[in-house]
Amino acid sequence: MNAKEIEKINEELQNAEPTVVLKWAVEKFGKDLVLSSSMGAEDQVLTEMLVKIDPSIDIFTLDTGRIFPETYELIEQTNKKYNIKIKPYFPDYKEVEAMVSEKGINLFYDSVENRKLCCHIRKIEPLKRAFEGRKAWISGLRREQSVTRKGVQLIEWDEANGLVKINPLIEWSEQQVWDYITVNHIPYHKLHDKGFPSIGCQPCTRAIKPGEDVRAGRWWWENPEHKECGLHVQDDLKSEVKIGFKNLGA
Ligand code: ADX
Ligand code: SF4
Repeated sequence: MNAKEIEKINEELQNAEPTVVLKWAVEKFGKDLVLSSSMGAEDQVLTEMLVKIDPSIDIFTLDTGRIFPETYELIEQTNKKYNIKIKPYFPDYKEVEAMVSEKGINLFYDSVENRKLCCHIRKIEPLKRAFEGRKAWISGLRREQSVTRKGVQLIEWDEANGLVKINPLIEWSEQQVWDYITVNHIPYHKLHDKGFPSIGCQPCTRAIKPGEDVRAGRWWWENPEHKECGLHVQDDLKSEVKIGFKNLGA
């Protein structure tokens, strides 16, 4: 799709329900479409919707090696409920070994540069493999999640990965997500009931206090402007990651 087509489809679908957006995506991209699931609430909503439209569309999750035990439980539960096989993507073991030997297992607490390097090795490189041969991906981003997501569009050209990115829940509130989960009896992550609205890796995610921003528990030691792992790329990130690699001698 070129920029004009993307602009046109954004106009056409701007007030459409997420299921309508997903149906459009399935018709347009077929097997070249993939859903990227962190197993968080938004992705569970999208999984339910997508499976009902076409259960053969692939769903994957990035298993960084540092995710919560509860996330594994939910993967199992979701696979069973929908009779699907969520595909795991793991990081390259040589890169993980080099990084941990050089910088330590919990390097991410030392600097934003280290944190982005870890996210690159454990998430971004596997993400690239997950996207091989694909034309479009579905993500559970919502605009109200954070300052870094205010400008996200329903359908975008993902320059970093060279494919179309579809964010069907972009306009949804947290309440809408939870209403949908309740009404449809969708299995959800146990930690959501323990103060974790946003779930990532175990060492980089903590519960939030009432009134705090939904992503306040992610990389809580960093400024809000830095709180992206590179899955949802801004251009400045690429150079920061390269610096990290240089320091590693990679
Ligand atoms: S993150 O970039 O900060 O980790 P967040 O947890 O808010 O993202 O999730 C936003 C979207 O990114 C999810 O809806 C999903 O599409 C994708 N995503 C995040 N983490 C993963 C993961 N571990 N595996 C697959 N997709 C993920
Ligand atoms: Fe590494 Fe934390 Fe990023 Fe997970 S969220 S990949 S542990 S820095």
